[in-house]
Amino acid sequence: MGLGTVGSGVAKLLLDHGDRTARHAGRTLWLQKAVVRDLDKARGVDLPAGILTADVNEVYADPEIAVVAHLVGGLEPARTILLRLLESGKDVVTANKALLAEHGPELFAAARKLGRTIAFEASVAGGIPIITNISQCLSANGIESLEGILNGTSNFILTQMDRFNTPYADAVAEAQRLGYAEADPTMDVDGTDGAQKLAILAHLAFGAQVAWQDIPRVGIEQLETDDLRYASQLGYAIKLLAEAKLVGDKLDLHVSPTLIKRRTPLAEVQDAFNAVRVVGDAVGPVFYHGQGAGQMPTASAVVADLIDTAVGRTRLTFETLEPFSTASPPRVSLRNSDELPGRYYFRLQAKDHPGTLAAITGVFGKHRLSIASVIQHERNGSSDADSSLGDNQEHDIVPLVIMSHEGAEGSARAVADEIESLGVVRGAVTRLRVKAP
Ligand SMILES: NC(=O)c1ccc[n+]([C@@H]2O[C@H](COP(=O)([O-])OP(=O)(O)OC[C@H]3O[C@@H](n4cnc5c(N)ncnc54)[C@H](OP(=O)(O)O)[C@@H]3O)[C@@H](O)[C@H]2O)c1
Repeated sequence: MGLGTVGSGVAKLLLDHGDRTARHAGRTLWLQKAVVRDLDKARGVDLPAGILTADVNEVYADPEIAVVAHLVGGLEPARTILLRLLESGKDVVTANKALLAEHGPELFAAARKLGRTIAFEASVAGGIPIITNISQCLSANGIESLEGILNGTSNFILTQMDRFNTPYADAVAEAQRLGYAEADPTMDVDGTDGAQKLAILAHLAFGAQVAWQDIPRVGIEQLETDDLRYASQLGYAIKLLAEAKLVGDKLDLHVSPTLIKRRTPLAEVQDAFNAVRVVGDAVGPVFYHGQGAGQMPTASAVVADLIDTAVGRTRLTFETLEPFSTASPPRVSLRNSDELPGRYYFRLQAKDHPGTLAAITGVFGKHRLSIASVIQHERNGSSDADSSLGDNQEHDIVPLVIMSHEGAEGSARAVADEIESLGVVRGAVTRLRVKAP
């Protein structure tokens, strides 16, 4: 169902490598139908005659079709199609994380009621088998924390900004040119995509029943090349990090651009790659790295799910899978985001006058957030920030970078808001989290 980027990759694997699927499934998986909207579009895959159709009813009505790869994006008609497939007696494999994040409980309940299964390995981190790892391979563990670079588009943009000093808007344009970003990249860069994937992983790893909308999230849109440069001078890379951490029976969840110490595995994740680090109480830290999107990496996960469904493995795990089940109460609840602990990086533009620093540090003192270091940078006429000052720029404005010790998110937010309102500060304050070592 759907023969776009991912669907064409799935068709290629099924048609060109039937020997592999036969070996693992114990029988050949036949591609029976491929449903699209536009029959005239080029597909980049040679389909045998009679397979391509624009009529979804051919799938619902065909008793020979046992499992369907649902590779249609968006919420509607994707939701209706998935429900109709279950009602028609088909097991479903989907890559649509937005649909699961929005309608997961409804779709999983429908599948259970109808005695069908939904497999969704490709919905998070593309080719990295993180769903199977968390729900099966690490099942002996209490998961303590999970951190991930789950959005390849934003990681590509940040890599361009870091490596080539490319301004944000140009890096977005380059991501679009290379097919990493949609024409409207909002959901990738504003943290929505990361929050939707984190909600799915938090269900699996912690038994949380969390709506992605309730996950605090900050995007990368406000970052300037200066931030990556200053972070680098301090020994950090900046990544859009999705984090889940268990503290007692409360779960800290958030998606934010975060300073990560260089030469650590997450800081070294480059370009459109994804990575996930999971800490289990028995296994310790485990690190996964690979392509989180793209035609063949995503198709790799979809075809593995098709095989698992064909041999009955999906059914075994689906019966006991916690996520989206409303039958059992959630094991954990979310911690109030104001209480999230962390260290912070603040960048601001301030007047180079006596008393400026005292006014700013006074705000930190008032909100009980202690300062670890203050770096006053000389003005650099080529930076994004300087050019944004325009023709009427004041020539005694300098960039300041302040690193805090650990404090609460609420205090850090209050500090940034209050500093912004000081007469000696110009423009917005950029506030980023700093990952604990
Ligand atoms: N692309 C990736 O790297 C990637 C990675 C992980 C997950 N995913 C997820 O995988 C899913 C598919 O992504 P994609 O990139 O392959 O999308 P895509 O290239 O836009 O392909 C979507 C396909 O669905 C078909 N379609 C749409 N509405 C339909 C309808 N009402 N009836 C029948 N067919 C319909 C389209 O037909 P036409 O071709 O005729 O328009 C097209 O073939 C999405 O949920 C996406 O979030 C994608």
